[in-house]
Amino acid sequence: MMNKEGNMNTLSKINKQIRNWIGSINFRLLKAQLLDNDLDIDGMRARRSAQLIKDIFERDLPWMKSEEIRTAVAGYFGNLYEATKEHEMPSDALKKTIIEQFQRLYYYSSQQTWRETYYRGCHVYKSPTDLWIYQEIVNEVGPSLIIESGTNRGGSAYFLADLCETIGKGKVVTIDVEEFPDRPIHDRIKYLVGRSVDSEVIREVEKLLPLDGGPVMVILDSDHSAENVAAELEVYSNIVTPNSYLIVEDTNICGNPVMPNLVSGPMEAVAAFLSVTSDFVIDKSREKFMLTFNPSGYLRKCSLS
Ligand SMILES: C[S@@+](CC[C@H](N)C(=O)[O-])C[C@H]1O[C@@H](n2cnc3c(N)ncnc32)[C@H](O)[C@@H]1O
Repeated sequence: MMNKEGNMNTLSKINKQIRNWIGSINFRLLKAQLLDNDLDIDGMRARRSAQLIKDIFERDLPWMKSEEIRTAVAGYFGNLYEATKEHEMPSDALKKTIIEQFQRLYYYSSQQTWRETYYRGCHVYKSPTDLWIYQEIVNEVGPSLIIESGTNRGGSAYFLADLCETIGKGKVVTIDVEEFPDRPIHDRIKYLVGRSVDSEVIREVEKLLPLDGGPVMVILDSDHSAENVAAELEVYSNIVTPNSYLIVEDTNICGNPVMPNLVSGPMEAVAAFLSVTSDFVIDKSREKFMLTFNPSGYLRKCSLS
């Protein structure tokens, strides 16, 4: 077993090796590999740079333990962004890397983060940053009806209903195939049980549409398969009113940036949907807090021209 001194020696060897690569002989190799990978990192073009450097380490120095590699890579990237002044920002590529890494950390720490998030004691499977964005959207749009597919424990419906109460208008209709016990009771929430795209459920939702054409907002948060989201988009996109929002939840899966082993999901359904309609645009400003489960998932319906 290696002692502390041995570990320090190994680490300093790794750091020296990184400096060597970047500073001299292997710089060309590194840069060539970074160039192949299509993004900009402090003047070089790179994608998933940390992963790339780790790959190079593992290939060239297979005797190193992965923990040591991680420590060395973390040290290397840590030094790239250590702001001392308020407005000191990393390069765009490094910013993207930091954001993605934090999104992964947040997502995979679910037992501490999104599986342990409550609104007034009720489970809500969202990030607080997305919930705050919901608050801003509800306040701006002033929806008469919010339709949510995927109720689960009812935490998100409860949050939305309380927002409606605060602004003094709007109701929430929330749909789930399952009827979870102890869902919150609220004057502004109506629960429907069934599949979100079943004709009977759609008929029930249509009965609740505001007669005066008031704003309707939709949140898709049920079965996250691309097929189901595509079917929901087809039905519910017509119900959203101009200048209001259709929010597709969990576009972050399938490698955007979490769960890269899943092949297709909400993000792919959104891309296919937007390739055949110009009625909606992705509102990137809703990703301003950098932590979101819905990248490219905040869709704003264009105003009628
Ligand atoms: C991610 S959870 C919803 C989380 C909830 N909106 C929140 O933020 O706390 C997804 C829910 O969708 C439901 N579901 C799955 N397939 C469905 C479908 N086809 N129609 C309606 N609900 C469905 C599941 O039973 C599950 O409770």
